[in-house]
Formats: sequence, C-alpha cells, structure tokens
Amino acid sequence: MNGTQPLGRSDVQAPRLGMGVMTWGHATGLARFHPAKLAYGGAEEGEEEARAVQTSIAAGVNLFDTAAMYSGGASERRLGELTRGNAAALIATKFPGSMRASAEDMPAELDASLRRLGRDTIDLYQHHFPSNRVDIPRLMNLMADAVAAGKIRAVGVSNYSAEQMRLAHAVLAERGVPLASNQVEYSLLHRQPETNGVLDACRELGVTLIAYTPLAGGALTGKYAAGDRPKGLRRFMMRQFRGRGLAEIAPVVALLREIGAAHEATPAQVAIRWLIENECVLPIPGAKNSRQAAANAGALSFRLTPAEVEALDQATLAWRN
Ligand SMILES: NC(=O)c1ccc[n+]([C@@H]2O[C@H](COP(=O)([O-])OP(=O)(O)OC[C@H]3O[C@@H](n4cnc5c(N)ncnc54)[C@H](OP(=O)(O)O)[C@@H]3O)[C@@H](O)[C@H]2O)c1
Repeated sequence: MNGTQPLGRSDVQAPRLGMGVMTWGHATGLARFHPAKLAYGGAEEGEEEARAVQTSIAAGVNLFDTAAMYSGGASERRLGELTRGNAAALIATKFPGSMRASAEDMPAELDASLRRLGRDTIDLYQHHFPSNRVDIPRLMNLMADAVAAGKIRAVGVSNYSAEQMRLAHAVLAERGVPLASNQVEYSLLHRQPETNGVLDACRELGVTLIAYTPLAGGALTGKYAAGDRPKGLRRFMMRQFRGRGLAEIAPVVALLREIGAAHEATPAQVAIRWLIENECVLPIPGAKNSRQAAANAGALSFRLTPAEVEALDQATLAWRN
C-alpha cells in the first residue's frame, strides 16, 4: 500500500513517511535556547530516542530529518549515534549551521555535518531557508560538486518559493543533478503550498514536497484543547494555540476523530494520512519518544477513501490562504 518511491527524480528510494528529530540531542550552552527546544521542550532522552529509531525503522519509517542548526549540532550528533552502522537509515540534514553563512561556507559545513553524523555520505542535503547571504546558483553548483564527490546522494531545498525552486532546479539540471525535494510547512492547518504555487511546481518538476510540522505542532493530535494548551513557547508562537485558536480547530479535530473511528486510527494518524494520500508529499512528523514514533508510523497501515479526503479538504478551506 505504501512501499517506497524515489525522492523526486533522485536515486534515493524513500518511504512515504519520515520522522523529524529537531528536538533531539542534548543541547548545551546557548544551543539550549534554540527556538525548537524553547517551542517544544526536548525529546525524552536516553533509551527512548534509541527505541524511537528502532520502532520507526521496523515500521518502514527509515528517513530521519535533522539540520546543522538544530541545537547547535546536537540533533545531528544524536541521530548519528543512534543510526551508526544501520544501513537502512536514510539521513536528511540541512545547511547552514549559522545565519551568517554564505554559499562558500557550504563545503566546510557539509564536512562538519558528516563528522557529527559519523558518515561518509548524506542521503539528502537540503538548503534550510533562502537568505540574501546565500546565492542560489552558486550554492546549487557547490551542491552538484558534493554529489560528484560522493558526499551527498540527493539535493534538496527548504522553505523555497516556487520561483526559487525553479531556479535551483534549472541550475542543478545543467549539472545533470535532479532537485529531489522542497521541505515546507504543510498540514491541514497550513495549506499554503496549495495556493502559493509550491505544490504545483513540485508536481511539474518531479520534486517531492517534504511536509514539515504536519501535525500543526501537536494541535492535530486532538490532545490539546482550550484550557489545556501545550507547554513551551509553542503556545505563543503558533496561531492554533493562541487566543481562540484551539476552539477554532475543534471541528477539524472532531472530523479527524470521526474518520479515524472508521479505520481504528487516531486524529494524528488521519492528519498524516491526508498528506500521504498525495503521492508527491512526504510528511515528517516530529516524535519525542517511541510511543509517538510508533503511533505516527501507524499512518502507513490504512488508506483514506476519496470521500474522506474530500471531507477533510472542505473542512479546512479556511487554512488554505
Ligand atoms: N525546514 C524547516 O524550516 C522546518 C521547520 C520546522 C520543522 N521542521 C522539521 O519537521 C519536523 C516535524 O515538525 P514539528 O516538530 O515542528 O511539528 P509536528 O510534527 O507537527 O509536531 C510534533 C509534536 O507533536 C507532538 N506529537 C507528535 N506525534 C504525536 C503523537 N503520535 N501523539 C501525540 N503527540 C504527538 C509532540 O509534541 P508534544 O508531545 O509536546 O505535544 C511533537 O513534538 C521537525 O522535527 C523538523 O525535522 C523543519
């Protein structure tokens, strides 16, 4: 039902669902104040992270997303420790580790990521976000050099507009390298990729849309409600947790529950499945422990009917723009 498929038109054979490990690793010094840690709090450390990796891989969720920037490299380091020697694990990480980086810093940063991960090759290396400091054609040429050197298997971008994607795609194409993915925020409560041209560009160019924050930071799990908001700065940073946000999404959560009942699935699993039903989309929900990892992997064990997909589309029209 799910199997694997190429990441974009690259040689990397990826599952339909990955896992984000942004909150993982033991941050020290200033890295303790990384926005992701402040927003979510850290993952359960120790054996729980190891169990989450094992549980995910056993369920076919073998793509793990991290970034040089997450907790000053602690997330990459932890993921490297937990996947070392595991040939099944696919690692996606991101450049840069610092807001001040320019394209020319990429080769040295790539080597630093490889060292933290304890690997010779990164399966998917992504440019984390566009910036005035990073010239896209220059960076894409350096990415193509790294592919030729065997340090990267596939090239991706993140938070790119449709226009920026087309530019990256064209520069890479001249070097015979496909643009494998664009990682952007996409969920039932954040459907902008459908209206800003990114999803259309992904379809047209054969690029996988990697959907981050697919559970809307936990709002789509149904475990939070007005009067029972999450801990951490996410309650102030994310619109769905502020003011009347949780009351506004209550009908969406109710529909997720109703549809889930027909499949013995949770609201979170239905929300993830809605993304997977689009064949060019690959969601990467974050998990703080093995229970969440196992629950999220459950999105691979059922399918939504076209009528259920349509009902969810209609119920979340207000979140398209
Ligand atoms: N490229 C970018 O700019 C960018 C930006 C943001 C994220 N990302 C990537 O996307 C990944 C996921 O995004 P995200 O962490 O922001 O959002 P998310 O996946 O929407 O939400 C993750 C949070 O939801 C809760 N949760 C997850 N699974 C659950 C389950 N089965 N049951 C109950 N609660 C569950 C956990 O928090 P609680 O238990 O505390 O509620 C978890 O930390 C990140 O790890 C990162 O790799 C990329």
